[in-house]
Formats: sequence, C-alpha cells, structure tokens
Amino acid sequence: MNADILKKTAKEMVAAGKGLLASDESSTTCKKRFDSVGVECTEENRRQYRQLQVMAPDLEKYVSGIILHDETIRQKNDVGENFAAVLAKRGVLPGIKVDAGLDDLALHPGEQVTKGLDGLRERLIEYKTFGAMFAKWRATYVVGQNLPSKAAIHANAHAMARYAAYCQEQTIVPIVEPEVLIDGEHSIEQCYEATVAAQKMLFEELKGQDVFLEGTILKASMVIAGKKAAKQSTPQEVAEWTIKCLKEAVPANLAGVVFLSGGQGDEQATANLDAMNKIGGTPWPLTFSYARAIQNPALKLWSEDTKGNVAKAQAALIYRAQMNSLAASGKYESDLETKRPY
Ligand code: G3H
Repeated sequence: MNADILKKTAKEMVAAGKGLLASDESSTTCKKRFDSVGVECTEENRRQYRQLQVMAPDLEKYVSGIILHDETIRQKNDVGENFAAVLAKRGVLPGIKVDAGLDDLALHPGEQVTKGLDGLRERLIEYKTFGAMFAKWRATYVVGQNLPSKAAIHANAHAMARYAAYCQEQTIVPIVEPEVLIDGEHSIEQCYEATVAAQKMLFEELKGQDVFLEGTILKASMVIAGKKAAKQSTPQEVAEWTIKCLKEAVPANLAGVVFLSGGQGDEQATANLDAMNKIGGTPWPLTFSYARAIQNPALKLWSEDTKGNVAKAQAALIYRAQMNSLAASGKYESDLETKRPY
C-alpha cells in the first residue's frame, strides 16, 4: 500500500466542483434501464452507451472519475482504445465496481448481504493493469419494522471493511457504500436511525481492519423519507438530517463523502446536494456519485436514435454533470434548469 498515492487519488476524486459518474450497472440493472426506454440490452449496445459517456466532450470539467463495470473496463471505443485508458488520458480517474451483488442474508428474511470477497485480491490486481485507481462496493439496507437488523448491519460493515483493506493493499481507493434504500413508507427520522446505525458500524469495522481513512471515500445515501411516505422531504430537511447523521457517524479524517441518487428525481438529487453545500461547515467535501440522476435524460435521448442522437445525449449528460458540479459548491439555482439542452 502506498498511502501518499491513496491520499492523492481520494483528494482528486472529491476535488472542488467535481464528483463521480456511476456507470457501473450490472447487465441485469442495465437491462432494466434499457427496457424502460425500449433499447435491446446487447453487449454492443452497452458498449456504445458507455462510449457515449466516456467520450462526452467537457466531461473532465465536472467529473473527477467514472465507476466502470467489469464488462466496461475490458471494452474499447470505436477506434480500439481501452475505455479506462481514454479516461486517464482525459484526466478522469477510472474506477471499478468490485462487489458481486446481493445475497439473501441467512435467518433474516427480507435482508441482504453483499458478496464478492472470494478472489477479490486477484481481481483487484487485474483491474490495476487496466488502470483502475479506485473501487466501489455497495451494501443495501431496507427500512421497516425492526429493520435493518443488527445482523445485516454487522455482516455488511464487516465485509465492506475487508474489501476496503484489500483495495488499499493494492493502492486502490475504496468507496464504501452503505445504501439505505429509499423504497418504502418510512419517515425521514426512521431513515436517519437506519443510516446513522449503518455508518457508525461501518466506521467501527473499518477501524478494526486498520483501513486508512484519508485514502477512503464514503458513498452515502441521503437521509430522506421513503418514496411512498405521506410526507416527502424538502431539500432543507434532507440537508439538515444528512449533515447531522454524517457528523455523528463519520470521522473527520475521512477523505470525502459522495452521494448516490437512489431513485430520487434528477433535479431533486441536485437540489438536495446543493442544500447541503449551502449549509456547509463539514470536515469533508460533499459531492455526487450519481448514476440515474446524471444519466436519465441522456439515456432517453439516446434511445430515440442510438446513432443520430449521440451528441444530444452527451450534451444532456454533461448538463446534469454541470448542475451537480454547481451543487457540489452550493452554487446551483433551479432557474438554471430553464437553460437545459433537452
Ligand atoms: O451504487 C449505486 C450507484 O453507483 C448509484 O446509482 O445514483 O442511480 O442510485 P444511483
């Protein structure tokens, strides 16, 4: 492990006004997204859609890194250049999702634990040869009566800490992602309880495995009421509860916090991040690591004409990245949405 490189990479990932683009959907998730817009989910269509993102003009102005999928890190653009190499040349850090998805947690119906520790060292060594500078591992928690359970929180936190240690052994910055799912009727207070418990346990386990926090990034879910809750959360509420949670659970020497969008609307995810940065005063940069909230308009445009709409889709992608870049500095205003190119 080279601590200086880890620290430098983590800093670059959360550099002022920049965030991450998550483009690491598994083939199953990708199929869901493509089905929703009527595009066939073939390997070649996935390659073309990923190429659109990797090659988008001005990407490097707003995006510090892209999280790729195993399939994507092995793919090339139309002129035969490896996607990860293209990104590195543009000054965008290539990252890689390394967990192997979710498994039902034994004795805990409705809860899941993330798989992927077997063979992880060897996979990381291979990803390094493609140029991966950081990695991602996602665990999920359902909010409900007596959920998430201590068992689910502990099992996932422990696995994430071991994953983080494997990454740092190879000088790859780990993103640890304990996602409290937005689905459900739960209140913002219930989301807070679940999120703070999951994050606290995660940092205990990271400490237990001697993970270097200055070379680690937390990918957090925002503290927000469930999608089906009677009372939906305002950006100010999301911002206040999320910052309260982070201040309670996250050590000050962590390199940075990035957020997932988790099924929020595109503008909602931007406004919520912006509200946090308008409050400010946290010891870590707070920025984005969105998939859907950046990709949605681009995917729709591309699906309407996968050959002819590439430039239009790229402009839409970059516009959302730019709005989120402003939100990462607390400088987003909803009026800007009137200028969007889609
Ligand atoms: O792990 C989750 C993704 O990286 C973020 O996706 O912004 O669509 O929730 P999302």
